[in-house]
Amino acid sequence: MKALVLAGGTGSRLKPFTHTGAKQLLPIANRPVLFYALDSLAAAGIREVGVVVGAYGRDVRELVGDGADFGLRITYLRQSRPLGIAHAVRIAHDFLGDEDFLLYLGDNYLQQGLTGLVRRSAADPAAARLLLTPVEDPSAFGVAEVDAEGNVLRVEEKPDAPRSTLALIGVYAFSPAVHEAVRAITPSARGELEITHAVQWMVDQGLRVRAETTIGPWRDTGSPEDMLEVNRHVLDRMEGRIEGKVDARSALVGRVRVAEGAVVRGSRIVGPVIIGAGAVVSNSRVGPYTSIGEDCRVEDSAVEYSVLLRGAQVEGASRIEASLIGRGAVVAPAPRLPQAHRLVIGDHSKVYLTP
Ligand code: DAU
Repeated sequence: MKALVLAGGTGSRLKPFTHTGAKQLLPIANRPVLFYALDSLAAAGIREVGVVVGAYGRDVRELVGDGADFGLRITYLRQSRPLGIAHAVRIAHDFLGDEDFLLYLGDNYLQQGLTGLVRRSAADPAAARLLLTPVEDPSAFGVAEVDAEGNVLRVEEKPDAPRSTLALIGVYAFSPAVHEAVRAITPSARGELEITHAVQWMVDQGLRVRAETTIGPWRDTGSPEDMLEVNRHVLDRMEGRIEGKVDARSALVGRVRVAEGAVVRGSRIVGPVIIGAGAVVSNSRVGPYTSIGEDCRVEDSAVEYSVLLRGAQVEGASRIEASLIGRGAVVAPAPRLPQAHRLVIGDHSKVYLTP
């Protein structure tokens, strides 16, 4: 079975980060979110993966390479514009051939492995097999209506009046029947070829579309809040390890990972926390649930439940919380303006100035 991973698109809810990079490369515990998808595909025994890339294709290629580091063989497929998930499937037809495949949206983080999904797809063939999960606000997702036997009756994309609370997770198992479906549909109101519409087309044709519901941790990392939550979740499962330098004036509490080449001086780090290579943390309090990217500097500050991307600097910040700080961004105290008092006062007056 092959897989198609989507790493194009625009990422409008993650601006300004997506002005300068792909959202699938934003770090979770200092690794691009896309890497977790590739890990779980490899763990499920998949070897051939097509990665659909858009404007930041070069960055994705640089980081992911030919896939060997993941035990995968990766073929890059360029999507000229983000015309929809079903459009990405259209352009991948030659790569996928007429075989079953998994479609994985590269900004989705799914803790559970894919082995069960792959096994059930082989044992119980269907035109499509969807993964669903109950959510509080289904109108932000694709939503499915399913009968008691797990047959999909209807799917809708971000409906105003959802018919169920079951959201479509961005992982789908498809038979080659999807290729006819993605050719049959037309663009939605948001101007995209929706994969949800292609699935509905299959249901309308009387094809077998199955669903399985999971309650395992899942997030679409489409917003800063989701990123922070996934970061918290991944850090919660991370082992501590100290490879960098931690001086005697520092205290580490709980699971803390300090990468080789990182330096911690005079600081209190409350895990789970990861500090990337080349980062320097001094006279600060960091954590819990914080990822400090490579080459960051944190000085005279307190940072909690936050993610600092590579090269970010935080200085003199008494408390930073629930924040996502971009690559090379600087947070520092405003320089004090030289306060000028212009005085015209009579002889022998007394003036008391506050600093
Ligand atoms: O996250 C699950 C949801 O993903 C599902 O519940 C929805 O049914 C499904 O349509 C999708 O909704 P989003 O609006 O969140 O999709 P988004 O535009 O964020 O695209 C998902 C991924 O696919 C993202 O990594 C970007 C990539 N993509 C997207 C488009 C539209 C592409 O590579 N090319 C594209 O043309």
